[in-house]
Amino acid sequence: RKGLTDLCDWSREDYEVFLGLASDYKRSLDSTSGRKKDILKGRVVVNLFFEPSTRTKVSFEMAEKLLGADVIDWSSSGSSLSKGETLRDTAWTLKAMGIDGLVVRHGRAGFPLFLQKLLPGVAIINGGDGARSHPTQALLDLLSATEALGSLDGVPVVIAGDVGHSRVARSVARAFSTMGARITFAGPKSLMPADVESLGGVYRPDGLQEVKDAGIVYLLRIQKERQQQEEFFPSTDEYHRYFGASTESIPQGTLIMHPGPINRGVEISSAVADGPNNLILDQVRSGVAARMAILDLCLGGVA
Ligand code: CP
Repeated sequence: RKGLTDLCDWSREDYEVFLGLASDYKRSLDSTSGRKKDILKGRVVVNLFFEPSTRTKVSFEMAEKLLGADVIDWSSSGSSLSKGETLRDTAWTLKAMGIDGLVVRHGRAGFPLFLQKLLPGVAIINGGDGARSHPTQALLDLLSATEALGSLDGVPVVIAGDVGHSRVARSVARAFSTMGARITFAGPKSLMPADVESLGGVYRPDGLQEVKDAGIVYLLRIQKERQQQEEFFPSTDEYHRYFGASTESIPQGTLIMHPGPINRGVEISSAVADGPNNLILDQVRSGVAARMAILDLCLGGVA
């Protein structure tokens, strides 16, 4: 692979190759002596984050360092963008320095594709672009879900919440449905995109209490930072009552997933967030392994 801008061209076989590699890397994380590799020795990777991040940014940096890459953390504040340099000139400047890979998060949908066209020869890896896609999130989720259930074939998965603003929902629906899951989107209509069913599942406006048969309920944070002022938004209490995961609304045995960060008391109660039936921290751990696998596939073995 030359990079990872989205999952549009990923087949079931691609996911299976990824899962094999990522689960090996996840096992290696348990050994402090065995987890350090030199697969990316001599490669320079820049992490270019224009939006806030904890999980994606730290786990990419950890994955890059565990694979032996030289890592540069770039941030827009303090850069020459503040002196009027365009993003295009900034990107060409970084390429001229000889970087090999670039992990990017940006609020504009399609920004990683723009960089891929602009910087041939540099592996562009998408750390989240607007509400369009977050491919490495979906891959790490696939790793955790597959490890927990063995297979997603025929598993009912409910993706609940702010689907309209969610790059995670789009990527997770694509990856999980390719691997055989049956996707349902749940949440108030005001938080759904007009074409919600084109994302690969059916839409049910019901509250979580009505969702009885799910193997996984995948919760989304309400992204207030992406909402337009005129959009209708239910109150936090009202939202939690109908669409929040609580010990009352989620049957025992249903697995809870969440990409993080979580908002306790909104989409998830503390009892569920801290309870035994969620994969939230396992997803975080899978994040390091999944990103090691992606970096290996994109940059490992490049002469
Ligand atoms: N899930 C996720 O992308 O989290 P961060 O915003 O903390 O990276």
